[in-house]
Amino acid sequence: MLDKYKRDINYLRVSVTDRCNLRCVYCMPKEGVSLIGHNDILTYEEMLRIIRIAQKLGIVKVRVTGGEPLVRRGVTGFLGELSRLGFEDVSLTTNGILLETFAEPIRRAGVSRVNVSLDSLDPERYARITRGGDLSTVLRGLERAEQVGFSPIKINVVTVRGFNDDEALSFARLTLEKPYEIRFIELMPIGGEKGSDGNYVSNDELMERIGRVGTLHPVDRGTGGRNLGGPARRFRLDGARGAIGFISPISHNFCHACNRLRLTADGGLRACLMIDGEIDLKGPMRGGCSDGDLEMLIRKAIMSKPRGQQTDGAGGDRSRRKCAREMSAIGG
Ligand code: GTP
Ligand code: 5AD
Ligand code: SF4
Repeated sequence: MLDKYKRDINYLRVSVTDRCNLRCVYCMPKEGVSLIGHNDILTYEEMLRIIRIAQKLGIVKVRVTGGEPLVRRGVTGFLGELSRLGFEDVSLTTNGILLETFAEPIRRAGVSRVNVSLDSLDPERYARITRGGDLSTVLRGLERAEQVGFSPIKINVVTVRGFNDDEALSFARLTLEKPYEIRFIELMPIGGEKGSDGNYVSNDELMERIGRVGTLHPVDRGTGGRNLGGPARRFRLDGARGAIGFISPISHNFCHACNRLRLTADGGLRACLMIDGEIDLKGPMRGGCSDGDLEMLIRKAIMSKPRGQQTDGAGGDRSRRKCAREMSAIGG
């Protein structure tokens, strides 16, 4: 379905939990994350009901996110049911900690792709950024994902100045040997420790650094004529098996092409990642509303989708942030 600005809203991101087995510095505060109460989390049946109605309204691509989606009990069964609904694309974004165990069952359940968040290739740094994560566990998860046939496997790298920006080249080099798509994501002023805005690095700077050691050949976004390819600008180094993508929400605003709708784990339908404003679906659903009522609410959320955020290309400013939720409660 088209929104007010004629954007085709065909991609739904579903956060199945706000809980996570890591605590990345830019995503969650160290302490005091307010978690959604168990009774407030939608059941899988409730989520599937919303997803089915959204499908009728033109959603063709669904991504399951968290927190960390693999920590929610029963997620494999849910993914199986979701896949049976016949979407063009059912994918999962995970931190990879549980991927070694889950790669095979979720592949069998019908998930077509996985995106793995991995911000450092150095074990100590990885532990620091994630506040305690074990890098080798994620690397084993990636191997397993490749073995069981996931393709493409995308790796999300959020660049934080002083933490991991010096690893851009190591990540770029990884695409020479591995069929991964490494995606550098600009740090957004949502979630995490307050006052880390100065840590933003623009992707133009990273492209320039990588470009000095190898030519970045542009490759297409794989949209297939629709706006399903996402905001990453993609490239390949000479002879590489994998690709390099740049997701630049701050320096190259892509709101004009945004095709997303987000469902939070407690049933908020969110039209924009950065700008607050959610339509509650849990209350009406638990109050016994009809599918027709739910459809109206989903339409309303789509029509209320704002034109987009204003970014100044300078990394944003948390004091001006319009987003009250933590990133972990929205799912990225
Ligand atoms: P693909 O379907 O593989 O293209 O995945 P994706 O990029 O849609 O999903 P993923 O969960 O891997 O998201 C990558 C990151 O891009 C997100 O976590 C955000 O950091 C950023 N991002 C995704 N969607 C939006 C959006 O609508 N607005 C902004 N500003 N950033 C977004
Ligand atoms: N800015 C950019 N990306 C973020 N993510 C989490 N918090 C932020 C932020 N503040 C990313 C994670 C994950 C994806 C779902 O969201 O690294 O890959
Ligand atoms: Fe967990 Fe992902 Fe947030 Fe890291 S970025 S704390 S892995 S939800």
